[in-house]
Amino acid sequence: MSAPHFRSLLPVRLAVPQDESALGELDRATWSTLHAVQPRPVPPYEPFFDARHRPEEFLLAEAATGAGGTHIAGYLRLARPTPLACNAHVRQIQGLAVAGWARRHGVARALLHAAYAEARRQGAGRLTLRVLGHNAPARALYAAEGFAVEGVLPGEFFLGGRYVDDVLMGRSLED
Ligand SMILES: CC(C)(COP(=O)(O)OP(=O)(O)OC[C@H]1O[C@@H](n2cnc3c(N)ncnc32)[C@H](O)[C@@H]1OP(=O)(O)O)[C@@H](O)C(=O)NCCC(=O)NCCS
Repeated sequence: MSAPHFRSLLPVRLAVPQDESALGELDRATWSTLHAVQPRPVPPYEPFFDARHRPEEFLLAEAATGAGGTHIAGYLRLARPTPLACNAHVRQIQGLAVAGWARRHGVARALLHAAYAEARRQGAGRLTLRVLGHNAPARALYAAEGFAVEGVLPGEFFLGGRYVDDVLMGRSLED
């Protein structure tokens, strides 16, 4: 099947259980050692949602595509870094992916803006994430969105035959 043609972005929404198969496909289609630390998925595939990855943690960006259809263009998982009460003011981005056909149309930026709003709604004042040192597109995105590098774990992962840094980034959600 040919890739959808991006026309425009719909408002970001929360995922529902029915999004399971489309999100699984998107996740597999975008897998790369640029951002993934899990091995390439092989059948039979793990479920996308489970007890630790609940639909309401996922923000979805849908795009209007050619011939009047809509497709899921990307997702962002927003979760608590730990269940500790003393850490309840922090939310963490624990997954962000945009379909290849939808890149450079502002999908990730829209997902991040929705994540700021949702994290604030949940009472959080800080947003953090981890990004691989060699992931230049994602690092450019986060830097453009005001995230600062707050720590680096050198050579934390061995991926594609090389040691790769784990870069910790964060930003305040206060205005
Ligand atoms: C990184 C990723 C999420 C960006 O998604 P996107 O929808 O294409 O990003 P946007 O169109 O919203 O870009 C917003 C800004 O990010 C930066 N950016 C995004 N992609 C970039 C690239 N390939 N090179 C340089 N800067 C980039 C730019 O500043 C861009 O603003 P501009 O288009 O006005 O110049 C996407 O490339 C992706 O899914 N990559 C694979 C998964 C991944 O790396 N996830 C992050 C894990 S931590």
